[in-house]
Amino acid sequence: MNWKVNLIPYVQVVEELKIKLKGMRKQFEEEQRHSPIEFITGRVKPVESIKEKAYQRNIPISDFACIEDSIHDIAGIRIVCQFVDDIYTVVEMIQNRKDFCIIAEKDYIERNKASGYRSYHMTIQYPVETIHGRAHILAEIQIRTLAMNFWATNEHSLNYKYDGSIPTDIKTRLVNAAEAAFQLDEEMSKIKNEIQEAQRIFHRK
Ligand code: GTP
Ligand code: MG
Repeated sequence: MNWKVNLIPYVQVVEELKIKLKGMRKQFEEEQRHSPIEFITGRVKPVESIKEKAYQRNIPISDFACIEDSIHDIAGIRIVCQFVDDIYTVVEMIQNRKDFCIIAEKDYIERNKASGYRSYHMTIQYPVETIHGRAHILAEIQIRTLAMNFWATNEHSLNYKYDGSIPTDIKTRLVNAAEAAFQLDEEMSKIKNEIQEAQRIFHRK
């Protein structure tokens, strides 16, 4: 199987989504409104990670059609926001778009995972033009605050280090850290107006 060729539309989708979402951010800036988007990142899942996930799910790694059907985060976009409210603003803006459709949504903010993980997830189906015609590619959009992102990035590194089995004492610390991140988001939300006013003044200067 030619992974590079199979992943071409995924690379295209990630690039297109990054441009479009960055365009939203830019427009907020130009209109001098608070942007609910702080920054955007995107990646195509590395071949090794795709293979590993396929293996875990008992999918033959030679069957790309099957892999595409069951692994929904080959194309991944992350939208990072300043405040929790901003996440729901972004979710609504994404729901209102006409250039792709949403096929699943998971709110791990209302109900966080046992690990302490918090984020809003959307799986979308994105139509992309290729030299062989239109393809409908699945992509995962993760929307989270800076605090949630800080936590998830660190937890992800530890999971990697311990091969998915983080020692209990560290796990407990992570749950505590998730609670602290939640409190940080709560406190910042309460002084959101103050912060935004300060940022407007700073921006004018
Ligand atoms: P996978 O977890 O990707 O196998 O699929 P799923 O259908 O279970 O989706 P889920 O929404 O649980 O997770 C999708 C993605 O969210 C993961 O690939 C991670 O990027 C992220 N994620 C989910 N749970 C955690 C977690 O506990 N910690 C961290 N750091 N990231 C998580
Ligand atoms: Mg999962």
